[in-house]
Amino acid sequence: MKKVLVAGATGYLGRYAVQEFKNRGYWVRALVRNPEKAKQPGPYFAPAIDTLADEVFVGDATKPDTIAEVCSGIDLVFSSLGMIKPDFVHSNFDVDYQGNLNILNLALKAGVKKFIYVSVFDAHRMMNIPNVQAHEKFVKELQAAKIESAVIRPTGYFSEIGQFVARTRKGYMLWVGEGYQRSNPIHGADLAKVCVDAVDGTEREVGVGGPEVYTYREMVDLAIEIGGTDPILLPLPNWLVEGAVAVTGLFNRDVHDVALFATNLSKMDIVAPQHGTHRLRDFFTQCKAL
Ligand SMILES: NC(=O)c1ccc[n+]([C@@H]2O[C@H](COP(=O)([O-])OP(=O)(O)OC[C@H]3O[C@@H](n4cnc5c(N)ncnc54)[C@H](OP(=O)(O)O)[C@@H]3O)[C@@H](O)[C@H]2O)c1
Repeated sequence: MKKVLVAGATGYLGRYAVQEFKNRGYWVRALVRNPEKAKQPGPYFAPAIDTLADEVFVGDATKPDTIAEVCSGIDLVFSSLGMIKPDFVHSNFDVDYQGNLNILNLALKAGVKKFIYVSVFDAHRMMNIPNVQAHEKFVKELQAAKIESAVIRPTGYFSEIGQFVARTRKGYMLWVGEGYQRSNPIHGADLAKVCVDAVDGTEREVGVGGPEVYTYREMVDLAIEIGGTDPILLPLPNWLVEGAVAVTGLFNRDVHDVALFATNLSKMDIVAPQHGTHRLRDFFTQCKAL
């Protein structure tokens, strides 16, 4: 039986990855910072992992002494370890780059056969964003290392738009730009399948999005229809938000970087090869019950 390390196992994608590896007969070690978190379900219906994983390994990837043995006996590493929201302690380079590099170095020492890493779709169009720079700096290290690898490049996850229905029900909905940009967000379970397929795949880079393409405005309209409300819609002009982002950068770098991501996404289509079966309508309907 192949043994896999899942890093980022308490995250939205990581939880579905643990589940999918188990469904396919792997032995799974889950790297978590907080074992209590592993016992609880994750955001937007992602499963609890303490009873799914064969072993819960407690460690912090930014502190090498806490993860020294994390790759011992492991055949394969899957990492969706990353920082998607500011935590005011670490930078993206500490986590997305250095944290993953610490694991890669241990994987090389332990003779791990393959390392599957999750970055972002079309990263080359977003290299002004520190989060993307950190991901891609790690991708360079990974692809130069003497180990087989695959880089998964997804669009946005359903978890990022899970709050849409709740927000429309609060009576207002803000967004940046005109809302005409198109994307195909993906459910964690669908993405996890593509990630596990990459174990036996030969592609070094895998672009992946969900089965349906929507404009941002269409996603908002769907959330309004399902929420059954009539909220005030407040599209914010790009120039206004960009000004606010620039000012934020003067006093809070982390919030600035997340806001920069949002403004970038509001200006470009992000449509990746379509995968999976989970529909946004069903997901929003589930979210309505939260
Ligand atoms: N969300 C999206 O729409 C999206 C789109 C494209 C690509 N991505 C990329 O996909 C990856 C996963 O995204 P996600 O939405 O699943 O993120 P997430 O829910 O925030 O999960 C991130 C995981 O990394 C773990 N982690 C962070 N710092 C750590 C550290 N120092 N040591 C050990 N574990 C640590 C977190 O642990 P804790 O639970 O303890 O915090 C969590 O398990 C990220 O790299 C993200 O940039 C995300």
